[in-house]
Amino acid sequence: MSLDVKTLRADFPALDQKVHGDKPLIYLDSAATALKPRCVIEAVNQYYRQETGNVHRGLHALSSQATDRYEATRERVRDFINAPDRTNVVFTSGTTAAINIVAQGYLRSRLQPGDEILITHMEHHSNLVPWQMLCEQTGAELKVAPISDDGELILSRFESLVSPRTRFISMVLVSNSLGTINPVRQIIRLAHQHNIPVLLDAAQAVATLPIDVQALDCDFLAFSGHKVFGPTGVGVLYGKTASLEQVEPVLGGGDMILNVTLEKSTYQDLPYRLEAGTPPIASVIGLGAALEYVRNIGMESIAAHDLDLTRYVHARLAEIEGLRFIGLARQKTAIVSFVLDAAHPHDVGTILDSHGIAVRAGHHCTQQVMQRYGIPATTRVSLSLYNTEEDIDHLVAAVQQVKEVFV
Ligand code: ALA
Repeated sequence: MSLDVKTLRADFPALDQKVHGDKPLIYLDSAATALKPRCVIEAVNQYYRQETGNVHRGLHALSSQATDRYEATRERVRDFINAPDRTNVVFTSGTTAAINIVAQGYLRSRLQPGDEILITHMEHHSNLVPWQMLCEQTGAELKVAPISDDGELILSRFESLVSPRTRFISMVLVSNSLGTINPVRQIIRLAHQHNIPVLLDAAQAVATLPIDVQALDCDFLAFSGHKVFGPTGVGVLYGKTASLEQVEPVLGGGDMILNVTLEKSTYQDLPYRLEAGTPPIASVIGLGAALEYVRNIGMESIAAHDLDLTRYVHARLAEIEGLRFIGLARQKTAIVSFVLDAAHPHDVGTILDSHGIAVRAGHHCTQQVMQRYGIPATTRVSLSLYNTEEDIDHLVAAVQQVKEVFV
């Protein structure tokens, strides 16, 4: 079913504003962070206004209520990604933390010098730097599968990089700078034939594609709440039970222990032993509201809307002479990156901003992707359920004006 975007837009108070005086906001930067619907803002407010209490700690009413709401989000996440059980869902501070937990808590103790970790050239820095750090710590080697000029993973090259020394594969599902949707099912099947576990970085995918971890058969999956209309400061690490059981806690402290003496501590069961300290309770509760919101709309409908609009952006921007797309994968969604012959992306971003149009200009935390294409940066348009063709028409007109300024 197609989305009733006009009605949905009314759920997002941030859209109802003008910037730079009189310019209605056109928000095309949802990949950086999605806007928040009123129900999320209300859920967070309600926790701070009336329902403040710590989780898993108190016997009093507010603490019990906070615990119930916190755990209810865990169940919503389970349902949202079709995890088999709520114990497969660990709350973290975001995708970055989730990946670092797997690197340090799961993989570090298993690596010998000369072992290999395989990633792709299109990873976000959060799925590159943790593995570089791990390689420095252990003497393992980081292998990087190349991408084509169109921004697709070169599958034959990927396959040839899988070796008897490959101990782990970590890769992005949807690239945040190119929009490429990777053939992850195929890769996971291949990896499992060689007993190699796979982590999927779903940070960019989670608000634009339905995710089913059981169908994907990934061993781990990470995403951030703020990209799926939730608050910042919360994310999710999903893991198969057998995989999560092998993750050592990276953070020790309150709430993750069973028993503590001065000599030794024992740890809680999953998922709590991986959630040390007071968690971002309000953000978790807000994430629950966000996932409920998405569920009511329907992820399939959102995915179809984002795909249609991505095609529209391509078709309209292609009319502009001197504009080159960075990322033309056959399977892509929600993200369109481009460069102009006439102007640096930062100038493009600044001029678009003066028209009230929010895009991201820069390397998008994927400097190695920019290096691959020999450019310093791109202008990136990222789409969400509240964007319309009219937004894109305004964008195209503004990009035309950028060209006029620079010729
Ligand atoms: N990872 C976010 C982006 O792509 C911040 O903009």
